[in-house]
Amino acid sequence: MPFAVIMAGGRGERFWPRSRMAAPKQFLNLVGDKTMLQLTVERVENLVGISGTYIVAGADFKDIIMEQVPHLPQENILIEPFGRDTAAAIGLAALILERKDPREVMIVLPADHYISDVPCFQEVLKSAVVAAWRGQEIVTIGITPHRPETGYGYICQDEMLDTFAGVPAYRVFQFLEKPDYAKAVRLLACGNYLWNSGMFIWRLDLIRQLIEKHTPQLARGLNKIGQAMGTEQYPAVLEEVYAELPRISVDYGILEKADCVLVMRGDFGWDDIGSWTALERYAEKDERGNIIEGRGVLLDTRDTFIYSPGKTVGVIGVEGLIVVNDRDSMLVCSKERAQEIKKVVQAFKDRG
Ligand code: GDD
Ligand code: MG
Repeated sequence: MPFAVIMAGGRGERFWPRSRMAAPKQFLNLVGDKTMLQLTVERVENLVGISGTYIVAGADFKDIIMEQVPHLPQENILIEPFGRDTAAAIGLAALILERKDPREVMIVLPADHYISDVPCFQEVLKSAVVAAWRGQEIVTIGITPHRPETGYGYICQDEMLDTFAGVPAYRVFQFLEKPDYAKAVRLLACGNYLWNSGMFIWRLDLIRQLIEKHTPQLARGLNKIGQAMGTEQYPAVLEEVYAELPRISVDYGILEKADCVLVMRGDFGWDDIGSWTALERYAEKDERGNIIEGRGVLLDTRDTFIYSPGKTVGVIGVEGLIVVNDRDSMLVCSKERAQEIKKVVQAFKDRG
């Protein structure tokens, strides 16, 4: 039975001020009643069982994970002392799971996705596991793109390799993480690029080899952590080594460099609810294209998003704005620049 590892350690900074250090977006119910993490667990536990489901995240998220997924065995929460981005999170999870079975398949899933057709998603994932069993390739799930999104990775689909459990798998000619806008427009026009859904399916022995080859500094750190595993020194070694690990995502660190990548198409209604503008795709708009969540009075205003659960907001004569009023913080941002909200968060951190 494959292992499923949900990466839930991101900070969700593009959702400031609603998502803060204590509750990034994977722990919020952005769409519907359940949180993004709860929906992710629900989608995958049907396939691998709750005992095969793991969540990797920073130590400060342990309590919220236990609260939101109370039926998850506590040992299935894989704790990072600090966030060092997704390559390290995946490397640590692989190191822990390879002790159980190094030739098993690992399904890596982000915790911040919306998926509308869950049965279709599960069928594609089962086929991806069959393809990954070969132990030769990383299997990715590609989504047909429909806008020049700069927040995603792009996968250039090449010729078909084979079909696995009825689903065709294509070789990947190139993987490009987060292009700038002009490049994203060109990639979209090419017609043979897909969005990277951020899910990866591979055998544990393969990902460990690829980490050795493409991110040697991370591999050296993981080897030290591996040597301390099962000893009393483990917590101290983990913390000491983790502090020095390179901060790099799996997309830049491994996927852009690897030449053994396959893609299966996953047209199951997918979205990364990555920023305030993404939420618009799920909310009801008034006749001028405005969305009001909470209390707002809008005059002569178009295409504006208001989130203000506690206080009344008055807006006059503007267009294309995001206005968020949450507890003690307020954000006013042009929609076009929603990806830059991270910079505000960083500036606050720098000021201390
Ligand atoms: N454990 C852990 N530790 N998890 C992390 C960390 C970390 O340091 N950093 C991020 N994550 C988690 C996030 O919570 C999220 O669930 C997932 O890893 C992906 O991280 P994001 O920061 O959301 O990545 P992204 O959306 O910018 O880009 C990725 O996903 C896109 C699609 O959603 C890339 O894979 C893109 O290529 C892809 O298109
Ligand atoms: Mg994301």
